[in-house]
Amino acid sequence: MALQFASAANRTILVRRHQKRLDQAFVTAEYRSRFRTWERVATVRNAPLRALEDDGELFFSPELVPALSHPLLQRAEPRVREAVLIHRLYEYLRFTIDLEQSAVIPVTGHISRGMSGLDLPEGMRADAFKIVTDEAWHAQFTYEILSQVRTRTGVAPALPAAPTFTAELARIHEALPPEIRGLDEMLFAIVSETLISSVLEDLPRDERLPEGVREMVADHAVDEAKHHTYFSTLLRYLWPSMTRKERELAGPYIPQLIFAFLEPDYTSAALGLRAAGLTGPEVEQVMSDVYARDTIVADVRRGAAPTLQYFVEAGALEHGATLEAFQESGLIV
Ligand SMILES: [Fe+2]
Ligand SMILES: [Fe+2]
Repeated sequence: MALQFASAANRTILVRRHQKRLDQAFVTAEYRSRFRTWERVATVRNAPLRALEDDGELFFSPELVPALSHPLLQRAEPRVREAVLIHRLYEYLRFTIDLEQSAVIPVTGHISRGMSGLDLPEGMRADAFKIVTDEAWHAQFTYEILSQVRTRTGVAPALPAAPTFTAELARIHEALPPEIRGLDEMLFAIVSETLISSVLEDLPRDERLPEGVREMVADHAVDEAKHHTYFSTLLRYLWPSMTRKERELAGPYIPQLIFAFLEPDYTSAALGLRAAGLTGPEVEQVMSDVYARDTIVADVRRGAAPTLQYFVEAGALEHGATLEAFQESGLIV
């Protein structure tokens, strides 16, 4: 099954564990933990489970929903536009739950158990336990809010069985050469954890939204700022520990992992529009007008900038095929 971690590639790395192949000039000599104050600042230790009250006029920021700028939706009744926002919130909440549970927790759990195959400082292993706890809490409080939105609005989520990114990750996993299969999970965790989404940044500031939703997203952002540093450091350990061959094989897949994380979930978006009251042909019209390929690629390129920088610094783009893959994907113009 896809998304199993301890695959051939990781066992290979495990065997080399004591070879100390790390490029010491590249890896920082000392790990500087950002989790020393975790007990005092982690939201799982300090923030209550946020609750949805009766406040708030909108459930998502309209400016973050491109479909709403389409003429068809601009002239739609307010209740249709409001329903589109509710479904967009559902999509975001479900994406978050799946990301934490299926992509970040498994990888971080392996690190905490000393099974990543990497020769990491003890402090990084200890901090991995904290991240697993943070992420489980994020999935839990996200689920709580989703349930409460459903109760308050009476609107049932119209979502596919799983977000598109999970199928995309499974596809990439199968496509990888067997000798590096498994690295995709860690690389995807690095990609997703080094990007702070505009949703995390913008929703808490939007006072049109219910306070419970804003507080929940703000809690998430507080913890993610620390995770960001951790995973960028993880890349600094991972990349030099790979053989040249592994780097050359894995590098070209990085753009696909970035797109898996950042590209819109078209299926969920279409289902949301349909459930909000658009007819089938109207949904098709909006989807094809709003999600033009050039616009998507430009958005992903913008969103991927921090991660791209980390991969450049790690030397990932020094290999020709990797650089080409980044150029072909449009991540590098
Ligand atoms: Fe999280
Ligand atoms: Fe995280």
